[in-house]
Amino acid sequence: MAQTLEAIKYENGELYVLNQLLLPHVTHFDKVCTIQDGHAAIKEMKTRGAPAIAIVAALSLAVDLRSRSNQGEFDSAASAVEFIRNSLEYLKTSRPTAVNLFDAAGKLWRTVEQRAQTATNQLDIVDTYVSAAVTMLAEDVKDNKNIGSHGAKFILENSKSSEVSVLTHCNTGSLATAGWGTALGIIRDLNKTGALKHAYCTETRPYNQGSRLTAYELVYEQIPSTLVCDSMVSALLRQNPNISAIVVGADRVAANGDTANKIGTYQLAITAKYHGVLFIVAAPTTSIDLNTKRGADIVIEERPSAEVVQVTGAVVGGEVTGNEVPRQTVQVAANGINVWNPSFDVTPANLISCIVTEKGVIVKKDGAEEFDIPSFLSTL
Ligand code: MRU
Repeated sequence: MAQTLEAIKYENGELYVLNQLLLPHVTHFDKVCTIQDGHAAIKEMKTRGAPAIAIVAALSLAVDLRSRSNQGEFDSAASAVEFIRNSLEYLKTSRPTAVNLFDAAGKLWRTVEQRAQTATNQLDIVDTYVSAAVTMLAEDVKDNKNIGSHGAKFILENSKSSEVSVLTHCNTGSLATAGWGTALGIIRDLNKTGALKHAYCTETRPYNQGSRLTAYELVYEQIPSTLVCDSMVSALLRQNPNISAIVVGADRVAANGDTANKIGTYQLAITAKYHGVLFIVAAPTTSIDLNTKRGADIVIEERPSAEVVQVTGAVVGGEVTGNEVPRQTVQVAANGINVWNPSFDVTPANLISCIVTEKGVIVKKDGAEEFDIPSFLSTL
């Protein structure tokens, strides 16, 4: 089988991120040397997907910090601590909805604060930060593999057949994480064990993470799959009663289980309920935000109207040379139309069958409309 794709490479203290704006036509890694590079990669969507955003932010500070330290920029532990504090605050301004970035920044800051109590020089602080950031990269892949196996088991236990078809939305695979993926990790797991009959992915308008990225991952790994437009899912579920589950990722899960994820997720949950299909959210526990009590409190990023009224793609028949592919942006909507472009929506907990985390599957108590996530986490 083909190798799993990689979006983040951290090698010999250097950081490279796959420029996802060029996918699926060109594979090009951009070197990230500073926190400004990391912030721009996230803001410009070269790196996207909740876990990947957090890791690139963390590692961009690691490479910047190490380079400044090597150049003798810090004259004390306190000056390195101050730089880390300001940099984490800056990186948190890159995108607002996915909580993993804020969770990672909080954890890294607490680690540094604790080390600062006993640090004797700046190198103690720099080493502590870099090692904590690098650990996050490795942990994410491990967590995703666990999500994959827990989710695959749940689907098979709750389906009538030992071979299942599933549908996914947006991109939650190797490109959106440090590797393997969350919802797409479940599909990978089902495929690996021979339990996957077919995977369907949505285009995921307007940014097309489904057609550009998920379809690319599925084709790359030769997973049996079909692309559908977002508007076709209800018709597909009616026509194909063998689809057992819709599996999606999450950008932020509130304490009651309400889940913010890519725009279009909510309507998929409604149609899943109508058709009696499992609706599964797959996310690491770093996507859970206990400070957010319910979905209505989640800040939803609104993006430029150009993403809706225009389409950018590779010119058909255009020749790829090096890192360049002839691309063209065309206007598809009437000039002057008003546009609303929320990047995410919130699916209420009552439409979600379960939340699959690396620590296990969270289900609702009998008859409950919401999840009791604090109780689940307290038992770990
Ligand atoms: O706007 P994006 O491309 O960063 O949004 C990505 C999504 O919404 C994913 O579905 C989500 O982050 C889950 S990632 C494993």
